[in-house]
Amino acid sequence: MANASRAARRGIEATAIFVAAALLTGALAHAQNESQAWLREPLRLFAFGRDLTLGNSPVEQSAAEAFSHSIMHPARVEGDVLTTLEWRENSLTVFGTAREVLKAYPDVPVPSDLAPEEYWAWWNGSDEQSLMVVAGGDERGVLYGAFALRRLAVSRGTFPDKDLLNLYEHPLRGRPAMPIRWVDEWDNASGTVERGYAGKSIFFDNGRVRDDLSEVKEYARLLASVGINGCNVNNVNGATQFLTPEMLAGLKRIADAMRPWGVRLAISVDIASPQKIGALKTFDPLDPDVRAWWKAKADAIYTLIPDFAGFTVKADSEGQAGPASYGRNPADAANTLAEALAPHGGVVLYRAFVYNNHLDSNDLKADRARAAYDIFHPLDGKFAPNVIVQIKYGPIDFQAEEPVSPLFAGLRQTNEAMELQITQEYLGQQRHLVYLAPLWKEKLDFDLRVDNKSTPVAQIIEGNTFGRKLGGMVGVADVGRDGWLGAPLAMANLYAFGRLAWDPNLSAAQIAEEWTRQTIGADPQVVATVDKILLNSWQTYVDYTGFLGTQTLTDITGSHYGPNIEASERNGWGQWHRDDAQGIGMDRTVATGTGFIGQYPPEVAKMYESLATCPDYLLLFFHHVPWTYKLHSGKTVIQHVYDSHYEGVDEVRQMVDEWKSLEDKIDPALLSDELARLQYQLGHATVWRDAIVQYFLKESGIPDAKGRAGHFPGRMEAEDARLTGYTVIDVKPWEDASGGKAVTCQGTTSAVPRDAQNDSGALAPETCSAEWTYAGAKGRFDIAAQYFGLPGGVAKFALDVNGKQVAAWDDADAGFPSSRPNGDTSTRYTALGIDLKPGDVLRIKGTPDGADPAALDYIELTPAAAN
Ligand code: GCU
Repeated sequence: MANASRAARRGIEATAIFVAAALLTGALAHAQNESQAWLREPLRLFAFGRDLTLGNSPVEQSAAEAFSHSIMHPARVEGDVLTTLEWRENSLTVFGTAREVLKAYPDVPVPSDLAPEEYWAWWNGSDEQSLMVVAGGDERGVLYGAFALRRLAVSRGTFPDKDLLNLYEHPLRGRPAMPIRWVDEWDNASGTVERGYAGKSIFFDNGRVRDDLSEVKEYARLLASVGINGCNVNNVNGATQFLTPEMLAGLKRIADAMRPWGVRLAISVDIASPQKIGALKTFDPLDPDVRAWWKAKADAIYTLIPDFAGFTVKADSEGQAGPASYGRNPADAANTLAEALAPHGGVVLYRAFVYNNHLDSNDLKADRARAAYDIFHPLDGKFAPNVIVQIKYGPIDFQAEEPVSPLFAGLRQTNEAMELQITQEYLGQQRHLVYLAPLWKEKLDFDLRVDNKSTPVAQIIEGNTFGRKLGGMVGVADVGRDGWLGAPLAMANLYAFGRLAWDPNLSAAQIAEEWTRQTIGADPQVVATVDKILLNSWQTYVDYTGFLGTQTLTDITGSHYGPNIEASERNGWGQWHRDDAQGIGMDRTVATGTGFIGQYPPEVAKMYESLATCPDYLLLFFHHVPWTYKLHSGKTVIQHVYDSHYEGVDEVRQMVDEWKSLEDKIDPALLSDELARLQYQLGHATVWRDAIVQYFLKESGIPDAKGRAGHFPGRMEAEDARLTGYTVIDVKPWEDASGGKAVTCQGTTSAVPRDAQNDSGALAPETCSAEWTYAGAKGRFDIAAQYFGLPGGVAKFALDVNGKQVAAWDDADAGFPSSRPNGDTSTRYTALGIDLKPGDVLRIKGTPDGADPAALDYIELTPAAAN
């Protein structure tokens, strides 16, 4: 070991061993691999030498690969100059379990008490005979250590503190907070992905496991890099065929592909399988033949996949069969599966998402939010030790804003995991930029005050509060073949999920900063700007969608995307917000409502029960109040609705401007790709704002104190234009179009499905036009055309001023989740900087194509920005 002084060693360590690259490597690669994510940036090392893997396991080999694979040019920064260094024979990086390291290097001070999955990374401080050790409590620990080092090196800068890289004096040590850190994929055997917004499955196609599993390997590497150790690959709905021998043979191949990265395979199972594919007369979980069937099935699985992680179960929920068919309860079903898996070390993730979707909406005491607690709390203590009850973060269903589920405090003798969604089902479906870590943190940090003591939810699912051995976090990821999550910045959510499951004490800001540095760039302005955009994005989304705890206010029986306020009411699904002319909100109080609040521990229940202490942001989840009710903020509820929605749109406009300010600072391909996405989001946020605002203005009859709602200066409705060919239609729901009406170039008078219109034969393409005479002052304007991006063809639009074309665009199929003109499909095109004077004639020409009828809502003139 060299005689370098401590200070000198620190100096060498801090400046020379790792030199993290801060440069982008260029445009996104075409093949789907880790380069589309936070692992894109190569490591630039000074201490460039040999690797040695002490064990034979593929996981340890992966650890070395994770580290060395990412080394590009060995380099050293001297001043501002990057100098290439030559190979160093005497520099060695060793990977191995603690036991292997101690055996091979008895002098290395590796701790003897490393737990499974824990890592320890150390350097001997010698520049000449450099020895770096990455040790783990087990193989996975070695792997996580390699990725932890990489993460530190690449994201190095002001975060984390430089001294953390002084591995000689401060070895890097880390262990996961919870054992279950899984992603769930809702992939169907056909290759579609339920609630997936990134194309087809990476696992399945056409009823079978895909031949090419290279993307599965890349995905496993991504998962491992943030400490995820399990992946359930199939949909919780319709899981029957996944237990057939043919499918199990394919699943074995998936398990083999993920194993080198320490990711264990799990699958969702259909509780009715013994009857459906096992030829038994029953699937009663207490029937001896049924129990024997599950045992035999588990044995068969473990013969193929010795490290199989376990089963996830959705039962008695949304049409999935369950133990209730035989008068049995979830513990009966879970324990039968648990019994089959236990000898092999497998676990059962039994989902608490069990509720009746045929509730009577006229019954003011009926409440879907109560279901999980009502069903599972009485079963506490009845579940086998290898069962984990998997609880969605809120009592309803992945809403943009809802309280934390009270069930977390209601199971003291049961293992628990929190389920959340990485895929943005109710949060903009990856078309909207929403960084979810702040939402998840709100739930993880929420103090449930069990026994009047501090009880953050994170502590419960870690197993610490009630002394449980198992627990954790499950994120429904739903990745696909289109850039994993379909949008580059959505990848921050996959990253954040893994990091929070590893350490729920990390802050959303810390994680955003780590991710940005590794993925987009380390320039301080880039980091500050991207992080600001990310960190504000969830509140912004809440601002322009639902409000004060009403939930997402989207089409809850269909797309879950655009606004559709009425969709939640008067049906059996129980996502009601109960609005009328007088007021809004679900009364869930103990005193007069459904009693849901009584499911929380007393201190929390007391806070929510009283209007005086219930926080504004959840007010309407817990209480029914008049529109004129005054919030703690001092505003009335109705004025809050108006204000927050106008603010929400302004916030997105700011996001656009902030993103634009990164020009010349980040990868140009990413810059323009995300800019287009944010511009779309701005248009769609406006659709949301206008829908919510005009709906509740009409409902309450109370005007906006600031005079905005219902008044759209500069807006010219298509239905008020001089129309040639175009006919006026009623849009459904009415609030999704300005004034409830739009025009279509296919002669229909209602929003009937496009297919039906095709059958009618009235579809001959023609060009229709809508014409307005401008009557305002002379000036320069941006002219937005709000139209409906419908599938089935590429309709063409053109904007003329006095007969001269000033803009033209195509309505290429954007894959919106609806084929009707409504809030899912409403979108806009903006022509910038058009000069107008009184008397000018503005005309939109729409040419349908196939089933796309060039439907138009309005045009809107705003004074052009100064530049
Ligand atoms: C949501 C989602 C469904 C899914 C269900 C579940 O309701 O829309 O697609 O099946 O959650 O979590 O089981």
